[in-house]
Amino acid sequence: MNQTRIRNFAIIAHIDHGKSTLADRIMEATQTVSQREQHAQLLDDMNVEKAHGVTVKARTVRNYYHADDGQEYEYNLIDTPGHVDFTYEVSKSLAATEGAILLVDATQGVQAQTIANYRIAKRHHLSIIPVINKVDIGSTEVQRTQEQLETLDATFTKARTLLISAKTGLGVHEVLEAIHERIPAPQGHPDQPLKALVFDSLYDAYQGIIAYVRLIDGHVHQNDDLRLMQTGEAFKLKALGTFDPNMQPEKALRTGEVGYVVTGLKDPRAVRVGETLTLKSQPTAAAVTGYSPAQPVVFAGLFPKDNDYETLKSAILKLSLNDTSFSYTEERSEALGMGFRCGFLGAFHLQIIRERLKAEFGLDVLTTAPTVTYQVLLKNGQRLLIQNPVQFPAFSLIEEVQEPFVKAEITMPSDSLSAVLKLVDGHKGELLDMKNDNDLVVIIIKIPLSEIAYHFFSELKSVSHGFASLSTEFLDYEVGDLVKVEVDMNYTAVDALAFIVHRSDVSAMTQALVHQLKRTVPRQLYPTPVQAVVEGKAVARVDVPPLRKNAAVNGDAHSISKKAALLRRQSINKRQAAKNAIKLPQSVFNAILEL
Ligand code: GTP
Repeated sequence: MNQTRIRNFAIIAHIDHGKSTLADRIMEATQTVSQREQHAQLLDDMNVEKAHGVTVKARTVRNYYHADDGQEYEYNLIDTPGHVDFTYEVSKSLAATEGAILLVDATQGVQAQTIANYRIAKRHHLSIIPVINKVDIGSTEVQRTQEQLETLDATFTKARTLLISAKTGLGVHEVLEAIHERIPAPQGHPDQPLKALVFDSLYDAYQGIIAYVRLIDGHVHQNDDLRLMQTGEAFKLKALGTFDPNMQPEKALRTGEVGYVVTGLKDPRAVRVGETLTLKSQPTAAAVTGYSPAQPVVFAGLFPKDNDYETLKSAILKLSLNDTSFSYTEERSEALGMGFRCGFLGAFHLQIIRERLKAEFGLDVLTTAPTVTYQVLLKNGQRLLIQNPVQFPAFSLIEEVQEPFVKAEITMPSDSLSAVLKLVDGHKGELLDMKNDNDLVVIIIKIPLSEIAYHFFSELKSVSHGFASLSTEFLDYEVGDLVKVEVDMNYTAVDALAFIVHRSDVSAMTQALVHQLKRTVPRQLYPTPVQAVVEGKAVARVDVPPLRKNAAVNGDAHSISKKAALLRRQSINKRQAAKNAIKLPQSVFNAILEL
């Protein structure tokens, strides 16, 4: 395709505003997928995505569009995820495009992720087409949504904003026309050596790593000898092609195009997202710049429920090949046996991985309470990085504990300011700056990562009725008064239940925890004392009552001697049971998570 007729774009939107539905309509209108073959929402083909209705991993698809000007255009649509944990994936996909369709649901208006995604698109200097969706619904607020869009960006005028229904197809033709009219063609130089950005990758058991690439300059052909510029690794290209949306082999990819290359490389870490691919014999002068890999920030233990360690191991390995932002190492727990300590982008990412283990591998896993990374300086001068509370050293050895802080920017309508400030305060956040921007207020805060990593985003959405957006960047480690809480059952510490908190929260949290545990720890034949222990002292305690099963009460119909025999047997069972570890259900770990 002539470079001037290529358009690379993404659809960005808040969750459920209709991105996948619009993508389907575009594929249908360009006959990329005939209506007959089309089953609902082709791009979201991962099972978990279907269950949540959320796009997790970015996809891409090539469409050919016969425009009203008589020309045929190549439309490369790159799908982006909608949840805040996957902002990195959004940024990755947008780096490969020149434009974006900013889709807003007319019944909900501009929402947190609309603003966050708009900002990422601006950072990548994209041409943005504002589109209001779902105008077929009776209760829409098109006028209000239009005003919100114009507040967000003064160029999003009424005349420039398209009104559509992705469901009925109304207005979709105008969107297709706007794509070639408003989004520029890719700029690169076809006669220069190959320079391609790897913006995503996939692992295939037979073909090795398949890299998703956007060609910046030059072209690439079957059998070319290529080199990765960051790692220096060279390989012979096995195959290449485009997505229709399935992989479609081609002989070559040209400047400005988006497609895949089969590297044949088997080490999953060999191809990093953000890598530059070039020719081995004739390399490009400079790599694509400005790319940093995603770092896991939340860590949790994953343990098989049915002692199925080997199955979990192979499942985790496979998942990590497809999701490079997910990390893992082996872990042994006294309470739960062999498992893995895994790193995630956030709490939602953790949930997605759990569900993929269930959906794709039939595996039920126990997840321990998530934690961030702490730095511990020991009295002997040694420095430890702690991503697992089990490794937290005894308090007598510790000189100081440092925790990660982030700088967060929260944008919200001015009427939610006081509720948001209260939320920030409750999470130990410190206000650094505040700016007014039309009807919106932007606050900059400094906050411990542990306070913002788990429930903060959903609480923020709730207090701002969905209107606040959040973006964070790592600041530094700072000294904090942090302690490890150990949970004892039958006076024995259960390693998998330990967690790290601020000392000021110990009293309230441990009281709440033991009362939760009273309900969730499975009842035994004997009363089970459960206590929270901090620095060697019990700070909260409950007794989980025993099962109500007693021969003396239930055995009315039995003779005295039969009752005596039953009681004897029960007392032997009780003594035996006391020695066996209590099998902990997921609800016990959730009790900590929910604090
Ligand atoms: P994520 O992948 O979670 O970000 O969602 P999405 O933005 O891809 O949303 P999706 O396309 O899955 O649409 C969400 C819901 O809105 C679905 O139930 C759609 O059927 C519905 N929907 C999408 N567009 C329209 C529309 O124009 N009108 C109406 N009435 N419903 C729509």
